Amino acid sequence: MSSPTSTPTAFRTAIVPAAGLGTRFLPTTKAVPKELLPVVDTPGIELVATEAAEAGAQRLIIVTSPDKRAVTEYFQPQPELEQTLKDRGKAALLEKVRRGPALIAAETALQERALGLGHAVGCAEPNLTDADDAVAVLLPDDLVLPHGVLTRMAEVRARYGGSVLCAFDVPREQISAYGVFDVTDTDDDDVKRVRGMVEKPAPDEAPSTLAAAGRYLLDRAVFDALKRIEPGAGGELQLTDAVALLISEGHPVHVVVHRGGRHDLGNPGGFLKAAVDFALEDPEYGPELRNWLVERISRS
Ligand code: G1P
Repeated sequence: MSSPTSTPTAFRTAIVPAAGLGTRFLPTTKAVPKELLPVVDTPGIELVATEAAEAGAQRLIIVTSPDKRAVTEYFQPQPELEQTLKDRGKAALLEKVRRGPALIAAETALQERALGLGHAVGCAEPNLTDADDAVAVLLPDDLVLPHGVLTRMAEVRARYGGSVLCAFDVPREQISAYGVFDVTDTDDDDVKRVRGMVEKPAPDEAPSTLAAAGRYLLDRAVFDALKRIEPGAGGELQLTDAVALLISEGHPVHVVVHRGGRHDLGNPGGFLKAAVDFALEDPEYGPELRNWLVERISRS
């Protein structure tokens, strides 16, 4: 598409569904929500909040269960800790401690029962204001790198209206873990029009290998659609099915095909890859980790 004259501010509110039990991280998640596990030293939820804030979000609605309020509390200032660090002259640590609360205004929406991703997003509706014509939804298990895809998605909404999702190409044998798009081309190589979307299809029934990557820019109309869907894949109320319903009613839906990197923080294997990837780039820990990894792998 042609470059916009200015970056559209398509949304001011980002929703992060974070009510899951984190079963793949048990036993740790008995006591610590998985969204607070550190990628090097920063919890995954702060990485996702940073991405949302960079794209223009001012508010982060964290949809969570009553016993996971610590995820939102992470974004509260800690004046006593800050004072202690100040007294001790720990300027770099002080900066890290203040970073999260300064990023974005975080608030909680409660999801009392785990009825699916669509249900979780719907739980954020009472927190919205009349100014929220569209909302961003970021799944905290997905890190989409480098940042910037939400801004690109906002440009696409400014051009076509409706809702815009993020897609990435996955091998067909992995496709049934995802929401999958049925698309047609536009005049832009990285933008496709979506004519259907299906949650977790069998590989031979998937309409393409373009999978939903956990970033959504949704027109407010989605909240009405969420009230009209029935339980779908896995017996859950699926966000995919609300998007599919909107498409069937003529609502424009496009995807931006993301060709950068991605990490899946939702399981220990993916989480470790993300942690190693980030640590290798870290000026403090990177060089030593690199040497150790090379040595460790040579004796495996
Ligand atoms: C969810 C969505 C799916 C999407 C995926 C991305 O699935 O339902 O459409 O492709 O996230 O990570 P989940 O991973 O919660 O099973």
